[in-house]
Amino acid sequence: MRNLIDIMDLSEAELQSLIEMAEDIIQNPTRYAQACHGKKLATLFFEPSTRTRLSFEAAMLELGGSVIGFSDAANSSSSKGESVADTARVVGCYADIIAMRHPKEGAPLVAARTAGVPVINAGDGGHSHPTQTLADLLTIWREKGGFENLTIGFCGDLKFGRTVHSLTAAMSRYAGVHFVFISPEELCIPEYVKSETLDPRGIPYEEVRDLERAIAGLDILYMTRVQKERFFNEADYIRLKDTYILTPEKLKSARADLCVMHPLPRVNEISVEVDDDPRACYFKQVMNGKYMRMALILKLLEVAV
Ligand code: CP
Repeated sequence: MRNLIDIMDLSEAELQSLIEMAEDIIQNPTRYAQACHGKKLATLFFEPSTRTRLSFEAAMLELGGSVIGFSDAANSSSSKGESVADTARVVGCYADIIAMRHPKEGAPLVAARTAGVPVINAGDGGHSHPTQTLADLLTIWREKGGFENLTIGFCGDLKFGRTVHSLTAAMSRYAGVHFVFISPEELCIPEYVKSETLDPRGIPYEEVRDLERAIAGLDILYMTRVQKERFFNEADYIRLKDTYILTPEKLKSARADLCVMHPLPRVNEISVEVDDDPRACYFKQVMNGKYMRMALILKLLEVAV
């Protein structure tokens, strides 16, 4: 039985196979419409979510399956003190597969040890968010035609932005990739990402403060929200939250084929005027996330279509 706790749980070949399956689902949705008939997905969301929870639920419904779960920990018995391990063991008696979001790093891994059914990490604290990475990879694949020889700029909260950590790990496996990390000093990319992922592979990267100077050299610009919920001090959040705002003016010096990405939700990091620019890909990411989650559910449930 397989889980998806970290994006590196999937080999390059498996990622490619998920992308090919997502492309097939996009082209032939009716072929998949009953693939999970009789199967149940449980969405256990101990933290707020719009895209991840609803796209998992839409994914299972479009595969002909059913969905149970909760979207607020306050409505679950965790509010009475039940552990993650016990919750997972119980829900594993009702559902065939679990998608879990939790504010504590490692909680989905703990759940996977007792659930008895596949567990998918739908975001754990500031650590990782592998299914957002699946959405990101399909977007890069569709926009750029592959993963090699790309210069990827991550901008904003690179400390707490779990989608940044997961996508950096995933993209570090491809030849010729170069990272530009654009952040204030206080929100820079964690040391462990450099020491565990980038340095051992000799992957080139830069850490810079100035988006305007970096933007011209990028193939992909991955904007991120400053993660208010991970700050201990509101004054620090207020001081840092508007450090970077992408505007049409700033995009003038970018390449014509730049791909602007953002995992969303957006607060103020991309002005709405950018939404009409053909380089804006963040709403395509949303749709791609549903197709990749459909492919992932089929893979983990070992459903052949
Ligand atoms: N990208 C993402 O994880 O969005 P939600 O928090 O709305 O699920």
